[in-house]
Amino acid sequence: MRVPLLDLEAQYRPLRDEILAAITRVCDSQRFIMGPEIEGLEDELRALIGVKHAIAVSSGTDALLLALMALDIKAGDEVVTSTYSFFATAGAIVRVGARPVLVDIDPATFNLDPAQVAAAITPRTKAILPVHLFGLSADLNPIMAAADRAGIPVIEDAAQAIGSTYQSRSVGGIGAFGCFSFFPSKNLGAFGDAGLLTTNDDALAKRARLLRTHGMEPKYYHHLVGANFRMDALQAAILRVKAPHLAGWTESRRANAAQYRTLFRDAGLDHAIALPVEPSDRRHIFNQFVVRTPERDALKRHLDGRGIGNEIYYPVPFHLQPCFADLGYRRGDFPHAECAAADSLAIPIYGELTEAQQVAVVGAIGEFVHQRLGVTR
Ligand SMILES: Cc1ncc(COP(=O)(O)O)c(C=O)c1O
Repeated sequence: MRVPLLDLEAQYRPLRDEILAAITRVCDSQRFIMGPEIEGLEDELRALIGVKHAIAVSSGTDALLLALMALDIKAGDEVVTSTYSFFATAGAIVRVGARPVLVDIDPATFNLDPAQVAAAITPRTKAILPVHLFGLSADLNPIMAAADRAGIPVIEDAAQAIGSTYQSRSVGGIGAFGCFSFFPSKNLGAFGDAGLLTTNDDALAKRARLLRTHGMEPKYYHHLVGANFRMDALQAAILRVKAPHLAGWTESRRANAAQYRTLFRDAGLDHAIALPVEPSDRRHIFNQFVVRTPERDALKRHLDGRGIGNEIYYPVPFHLQPCFADLGYRRGDFPHAECAAADSLAIPIYGELTEAQQVAVVGAIGEFVHQRLGVTR
């Protein structure tokens, strides 16, 4: 049985008529820039995430850039972040002219190690940027405490974590800003690029809204040098159809994660393959289900050969990326991230995955473990 890493068509099929009607509504209105779809989506997502302000933007990358610009982070400034994330996290910091100061991950959760954050703060540090990787919140209390002591804001990269909670609070509403992505593979995915910036701070929201449209208010009067960070009305209309289903989709992903735990345990594989952890004070939304084995590359080849979707997130931490060579880091600087880059592999977890498909995934992994590692029950 072939099992894709993600099956967007399975999610689209039952919503097809509603989505096409939403697209038609925008086409008939001929209002493609800002307007009622954007306002409607912002209202709905504000309620869904439980934040005061939700600002629809062009992508998760632009949400990060806009947050940094709204906080006036610029050349000469430093931002402390994880070395292990999607490129946009560090890329946005460099694009405003600031320096990413990288720290290692907590090996159990893949997230920024709070113990290392405080030591990385200098008088030039202007923000801390934790990432809620794969849909699990970073350990925010000690990170917020370090930020408070330094008098600097926290920007949450919640691109992969919509609906995730930390101590019963939604991520994206805990730091000064939350940055979300609606890239099609996210739990709430658009039909192209789209993102969201959230905040509970009225002044920051006002500044971010201004920067979203070239700092312009009213038309052709520019108070700040911003950019075009607007979300398309077509994407907003599609997201408005999909957003009410997010809670159900997340529950399905969580049920699939629980089912994997049972299947791996029953097959005697949980000693050979490490499964993702979910600390008791956090709710994982499983944008990715990432397993670990020192034999990762061989497991990947085996799954590729069996038609089982999988992906490496991410093969190279930021401190080893060629474009960041001038930051001066070396191999060995962040051993936990380097280990994760070498031993982790995402397997299918999307909501529509069937039990038979999960059995096939675990069966293929079991076959590998027994052949390659000689582990028997
Ligand atoms: C952790 C993280 N940050 C930022 C982004 C950027 O989002 P986008 O692809 O919408 O620009 C992503 C998306 O892949 C992400 O996973």
